[in-house]
Amino acid sequence: MLFDFLRRKKTEHEIDMSRLPQHIGVIMDGNGRWAKKRGLPRSAGHKAGAESLKKIVTEANNMGIKYITVYAFSTENWKRPQAEVDYLMSLLMDYLVNAEKTLAGENVRIRAIGSRAELSEEMRRQIKKTEELTSNRTGIVMNIALNYGGREEIVHAARELGKQIKAGMLEPENITERDIEENLYTANQPDVDLLIRTSGEQRLSNFMLWQVSYAEMVFVNKLWPDFKPQDLRECILAFQGRGRRFGGI
Ligand code: FPP
Repeated sequence: MLFDFLRRKKTEHEIDMSRLPQHIGVIMDGNGRWAKKRGLPRSAGHKAGAESLKKIVTEANNMGIKYITVYAFSTENWKRPQAEVDYLMSLLMDYLVNAEKTLAGENVRIRAIGSRAELSEEMRRQIKKTEELTSNRTGIVMNIALNYGGREEIVHAARELGKQIKAGMLEPENITERDIEENLYTANQPDVDLLIRTSGEQRLSNFMLWQVSYAEMVFVNKLWPDFKPQDLRECILAFQGRGRRFGGI
């Protein structure tokens, strides 16, 4: 208890509020292992992970972070057993439905990024509804990466540009990075500047390949359901301790 209190005090003093990351990406890894360690089904790990997520978004919003993107379901996650896929979808559905109430106090704007075509009609309708309901809020923007893959996102952008070329609106030799950015799911949002992955794995797993080009990466040896607001503050402190040069010297 005393240790936790001291840890918190330390970060409160040391975090420079004028140099917060603008956009945090989170790979919420380790739900399954968390459940296994307790002799519980994997679904219990995902449920605990969803609870953890609420606390982290609230903390990030309270600190004044502007954007957070969380990897909830990748284009590869369909390969998991059907029961697990169904459970993750039902958790996501609940999250979207409840966001109207539970995250209202926090003023969170919710968006889904990823390919929607493969999602159920019900899910697509709910995403649209939640996005519309929360669009006038002024707090943090929370992107839920849902049926998301970084490569798929770039393919999607290439197709959009292809359409513009076909329509005579764009010349191939005039394509710029900005054109690609404007056709990503995160159009008009800043790049990710802090990427956090829990569970000790050190991989990108097809997450925001374009947007993390200059992100500082922080790998945490805790499983996602054990990741607490204090851990987020420590990641921000680690971010602030790095010298960012963007290719310069
Ligand atoms: C990775 O852990 C986690 C996921 C594939 C899903 C993340 C989902 C949540 C945190 C909850 C639902 C999200 C929302 C927005 C409500 P893993 O299952 O790969 O864990 P393991 O590597 O230990 O098996």
